[in-house]
Amino acid sequence: MVKVANPTHQIGLNREVVNGLRKSKTLVGPLHKIILDADGNVVAGEHRRAADPDWPVEVRPEIKTEKDRVLVKIHENYRKKMPNKKVKGELLKLAQVLVEEEDLKLEEICDRVCGLVPYSPRYVQKMLPSKYKRSGGYGMNRTSSVQPAKFDLMCGDFREKSNEIENGSVDIIITDPPYGKAYIPLYEDLGKMASRVLKDGGSLAAMAGQSYLSEILQKLCKHLTYNWIVAYLTPGGRSPQLWERKVNTFWKPVLWFIKGKYEGNWIGDVAKSNPNDQDKQYSEHGQSESGMLDIVKRFVKINQVILDPFMGAGTTGVVALKLGCSFIGIDINAEMVEIARRRLQEIVVKE
Ligand SMILES: C[S@@+](CC[C@H](N)C(=O)[O-])C[C@H]1O[C@@H](n2cnc3c(N)ncnc32)[C@H](O)[C@@H]1O
Repeated sequence: MVKVANPTHQIGLNREVVNGLRKSKTLVGPLHKIILDADGNVVAGEHRRAADPDWPVEVRPEIKTEKDRVLVKIHENYRKKMPNKKVKGELLKLAQVLVEEEDLKLEEICDRVCGLVPYSPRYVQKMLPSKYKRSGGYGMNRTSSVQPAKFDLMCGDFREKSNEIENGSVDIIITDPPYGKAYIPLYEDLGKMASRVLKDGGSLAAMAGQSYLSEILQKLCKHLTYNWIVAYLTPGGRSPQLWERKVNTFWKPVLWFIKGKYEGNWIGDVAKSNPNDQDKQYSEHGQSESGMLDIVKRFVKINQVILDPFMGAGTTGVVALKLGCSFIGIDINAEMVEIARRRLQEIVVKE
């Protein structure tokens, strides 16, 4: 009998995963390509290659260093939501590479890893072995490399109040403006303000209703560069109904615009809240903390300055502080500003 070479004998490959990929390829086709470097080495997709040697490939000539390889693997794992053990191994490798290739001090490692991967600082902190962590932890006894949590809230129309913010001083604007037709012009003011206060390469991530999306996109395009739309899923049985459009809606667009050229991390374009997490305890229009966390963690790095000019009860700020960032919030409604202040103060006191 002829013995057929079984590629799952390769070290580290899981036979069940390979068989599963073979089956899913027959059923739905190859969903994700194998990623190769310029020399044809597999950087991500060993299981796909073992499942079928003719699986489609994507050559990425920009992958040159060990750091590039590890980062591609982490981003691939993140997209596929692979088990933590695998991510943990890759994060550890990344920390080692940063020590060796970039001669970073150990206490800088956690910040650097957080800046390069799409995971929150808390998650990275948990995953890395203690020798790669700073003393203390995120949200606990912070060392000098992490600024203490801080926030600055203003009450008034953002078109006036934002004048108090210095040019080019904000890393990211994450916001949830009101959705009605009457508010469409505000998006032009938002884009204009963003193009002034954002740092070069900074992002605006603005939620929007779908009803007037084409007008809103045109307004933002006047001042910023369109990059992408992230789908924010709000799963659960109690979805809003748009009678005039005959739609039960389970997601919202998060419009992602850039000042200049984006040079940040890769971002997965689907975020979601916990099921039925329509958190209206602080404000009638409030977003849930679970959903905002899933959005904000994609965009921010530790110590960055986050602005929400329509902050409502401050959910963006709550999440920003928990991720180790500073927060500037503006709202025209004084009651909202007070609620936000109480929520943020609670976090600062706890930390
Ligand atoms: C959809 S709510 C934001 C809710 C917020 N994301 C939360 O989780 O609580 C929009 C907010 O924009 C505020 N707003 C409306 N027009 C404004 C303006 N011109 N300047 C500042 N805030 C404004 C409203 O008071 C409201 O609180």
